[in-house]
Amino acid sequence: MLGTAAGGGLPQWNCGCTGCETARRTGATRSQDCLALSADGTAWYLVNASPDLRSQLLTTPELAPPPGTRDTPLRGVLLTSGELDHTLGLLTLRESAGLTVHATAPVRAALHDAFPAGPVLARYTSVHWHTVAPGEPFELAGGLVAEPLALGGKRPRYAADLPALPADGRSPQPPGDRTDWVIGYRFTEAEGRATAVYAPGLAAWTPAVDRAVAGADVVILDGTFATDDELAAHTAGARTSRGMGHLAVADSLPHLARRPGPRYLYTHLNNTNPLAHPGSAQAHALAPALAAAGAAVAEDATLLEL
Ligand code: MLT
Ligand code: MN
Ligand code: ZN
Repeated sequence: MLGTAAGGGLPQWNCGCTGCETARRTGATRSQDCLALSADGTAWYLVNASPDLRSQLLTTPELAPPPGTRDTPLRGVLLTSGELDHTLGLLTLRESAGLTVHATAPVRAALHDAFPAGPVLARYTSVHWHTVAPGEPFELAGGLVAEPLALGGKRPRYAADLPALPADGRSPQPPGDRTDWVIGYRFTEAEGRATAVYAPGLAAWTPAVDRAVAGADVVILDGTFATDDELAAHTAGARTSRGMGHLAVADSLPHLARRPGPRYLYTHLNNTNPLAHPGSAQAHALAPALAAAGAAVAEDATLLEL
């Protein structure tokens, strides 16, 4: 896990709240949401490309170029959304000899229009775009299989005015807008020995989420906010967690508790989230419920071996 914070990171550059100040003082910081994974330990994929990507890559020995080469173990990037905290790092990869990016149709369209990372990158490297669709698994190098999972229709703010893409017939879409602006992935190692689910933006607990977590070894899920009203309590007039497309930890925990088996890890923590501040009274109060559900808070620079 390269990064475990929501957009802005911890501390956020312009925030002097108690949590951000504590992170500055103690060094218990978090970089923005990003995962690297590999089925064979040789071919690696990024899930999301955070604005902190350069320092995340530099502190991850597995992702260093072999000595004496201008090469990289990175074989591509899979996006879970078009949000800036998941896509700004694409520009950091412009020195790549070639770059493969997997994204859903609306995210791919947004990255060629409202935030034209695609056309910009095309001037620096050759980018191979692959459109992914919920329910259509695809194979990656090193024996990794990725199955996208539709998680929500929340667009990035910069894409608010993009016209809705028509349904493409590949996956059932409601009229109007798509449900695959935000996706998760169910990753399996081709021999079926290990399964991981990555869902840093989970709007609601749906039957599809239930199916995805069944039998998984590890489920890394949306831990943006601890409670639905967390941001409103912090900033007058702010939206609810659900209104921002994030199911709060307090609201997903009961689902986890009913589905024991996987190891659950919360990621994409906002700097307001008391769970990001281990010494806080609220974190202490939530600890028993987390432990009872087999859940924990993810930390930056964690290596999970399944
Ligand atoms: C989100 O996760 O909801 C977005 O990244 C928020 C944002 O950065 O605007
Ligand atoms: Mn985000
Ligand atoms: Zn803060």
